[in-house]
Amino acid sequence: MYCVKKITDSLLWTGADDRRIVCFEGVYPVPDGMSYNSYLMNDEKTVLFDTADKAVTEQFLENVRYGLNGRALDYIIVHHVEPDHTASLAAVKRIYPDAKIVCTAKAAEMLARFYPEAATSVMTVAENDTLETGSHTLRFVTAPMVHWPEVMVTYDETDKILFSADAFGSFGALNGTLFSDEVCFKRDFLPEGRRYYCNIVGKYGLQVGMLLKKVSALEIKMICPLHGHVWREKIDKLLEKYSLWSSYTPEDKSVMIAYASVYGNTEKAAEVVAEILRSKGADVKLYDVSVKTNDVIVAEAFRCSHLIFAAPTYNGGVFVRMEEALREIAAHGLKNRVCAFIQNGSWAAVSAKKMQEILSECKDMTFIENVLTLKSALADDQYPEAEAFADAVLATM
Ligand code: FEO
Repeated sequence: MYCVKKITDSLLWTGADDRRIVCFEGVYPVPDGMSYNSYLMNDEKTVLFDTADKAVTEQFLENVRYGLNGRALDYIIVHHVEPDHTASLAAVKRIYPDAKIVCTAKAAEMLARFYPEAATSVMTVAENDTLETGSHTLRFVTAPMVHWPEVMVTYDETDKILFSADAFGSFGALNGTLFSDEVCFKRDFLPEGRRYYCNIVGKYGLQVGMLLKKVSALEIKMICPLHGHVWREKIDKLLEKYSLWSSYTPEDKSVMIAYASVYGNTEKAAEVVAEILRSKGADVKLYDVSVKTNDVIVAEAFRCSHLIFAAPTYNGGVFVRMEEALREIAAHGLKNRVCAFIQNGSWAAVSAKKMQEILSECKDMTFIENVLTLKSALADDQYPEAEAFADAVLATM
């Protein structure tokens, strides 16, 4: 049975949700599932904008068959070769062998490697090339590294719709909705949209910024991404968030305290500092890195202006979970944050130095000199030290 959504008189959503997936890309937990979006345009020519992940091939093919209503498929536009969008390409080509694949030259090379039998009738396009489909003119705009080098987006000049590939997407299944205005921006989009952005393309802020610049020159009435909701309202709010994320500008003047604690003593110190910061008016949130996955820590590090890391010294270095979390932050290219450290060590405390070394790979970081050091546990008479540490953080807010 088909399950499609009408977007305009000539455009259908032909994607599908997957709620059995546990980890997207084998690494990012997706407790609310994923959507794999595909769109079908019925003009004088028929155009399929991307295919879908193999987990949903059957539903996706039913949708396309229904949407075409017996017509032939003329074009398949491949915006991004990653298999969450192309794994169903071979199945589509088996049913519609004459369909022309439209993609960048780089994408054509990748398709030939991923799907040697399906990558036939390929028409490569470059920046600003257009395709006339009848009443629609489709303009192709390259978007390298958002999220792979071959990526392009398509602007429908007729209906002012941007088919944005991975950009402007989100984790989470659509659950019967399609448009972002059917859910709450702050509650339903923002946490998962941010976690998606930071982890999927957070490293490529420069390239996302270049795409935003191109997009700012277009009149956009709708954005159709490859994951998550279609945007027809509050596009300015979405672009505003992307502008902050891609320029590594903190969203909130807020403190993330990420701590690792083997026996609870480092956690207690983190709690004391949080209490002091709170009592002096700061917004604070604590995360135990042994419990929270790194993708959550990375997303919160992108959100917050101030980051406090608290960890025991472990094997002469940093406790392993904290080391992993910090390396993930560094790997995602975070910049421009104020960082402070709480270290614990029963005999030789070095974790603050080690944590700072990892984050020194990030650009434009400010490291607060005042380090709060525990020897096994924070002693009662160390409260003034904890307060001085908190004050040093507050002085930069
Ligand atoms: Fe949704 Fe980069 O693939």
